[in-house]
Amino acid sequence: MNDRPDASNASHPDAAGPRAGGSGLDDSALEDPYAWEADLYDVTTATVSEQDVPFYTALAADAGGPVLELGCGIGRVLLPCAAAAGSAVGVDVSPSMLARAATAAAAAGLGARVELHRGDMRTVRLERRFPLVIIPFRSLFHLPRDDDWLAALATVRAHLAPGGRFAANVFVPDPELIAARQDHHGLAGEVRHPDTGQRVVLWEHTSFDTVAQVAHRRRVTEVLNDSGLVLERRHRLLDVYFRHPNEVLYLLEAAGFTVDQLFGGFDGRPPDSAAEELIWVAHPL
Ligand SMILES: C[S@@+](CC[C@H](N)C(=O)[O-])C[C@H]1O[C@@H](n2cnc3c(N)ncnc32)[C@H](O)[C@@H]1O
Repeated sequence: MNDRPDASNASHPDAAGPRAGGSGLDDSALEDPYAWEADLYDVTTATVSEQDVPFYTALAADAGGPVLELGCGIGRVLLPCAAAAGSAVGVDVSPSMLARAATAAAAAGLGARVELHRGDMRTVRLERRFPLVIIPFRSLFHLPRDDDWLAALATVRAHLAPGGRFAANVFVPDPELIAARQDHHGLAGEVRHPDTGQRVVLWEHTSFDTVAQVAHRRRVTEVLNDSGLVLERRHRLLDVYFRHPNEVLYLLEAAGFTVDQLFGGFDGRPPDSAAEELIWVAHPL
């Protein structure tokens, strides 16, 4: 998703909204907004992983049992959590992300310890309970309405074992960054495709509706040959439904969660006005 409108985070494909469209999109992309980017996800989230993976794996190691991740993507966080906790279960709506997660789990020798399900975090019911449920990397900002949040939080509750904990993070919207990036079109990064080795250039344009609290983001992905000729160009549209910390805390309370720990960054900083990320560990009442 996803996400915080700042340059340092602009280079990863994240928090896609439920919408995709525009000329040049094929059916698979319309059904699965992550269809093209699952392959690139690892290389474009390397910096993010340095920050959030240690936080979630520490919780997983403490959990003493399997971890459930809702919106698990390619298993970027899920796999290290499975290694730390012994096993993990991931749920995601995107077939392409899940396919990549399955491949990565097998390659890491974690195939037997990672279970993957295609499902919607608002409705999925695995009929199992876990000591730790996580929703990392702003996946909750995929959800447009309060009802969607409450449904996802009800899913978390339905899967928490007695004494279990729920940890998640979303970015903190920054009015100055929003103003600076309003209608800005710019280079978001360049990576090598992990499978083909081809140069891939990422461009982004974001238009913020600060009343509706949605960022309409267009990501343009160009595949270049070594002399810089564009071999392929793809557009993906996504909506990111951002919320301010107070709204997030209100929804957690409305869903019956008590927040035990609240941070403003993965370095453990407080959730004050300088916070870039809102990270919480909570338990159900
Ligand atoms: C920003 S990515 C994060 C992926 C992963 N958690 C990580 O940290 O790398 C958001 C993921 O949430 C998934 N997603 C979006 N809406 C969802 C929903 N309603 N239910 C389950 N997964 C969803 C997307 O397919 C995508 O894989």
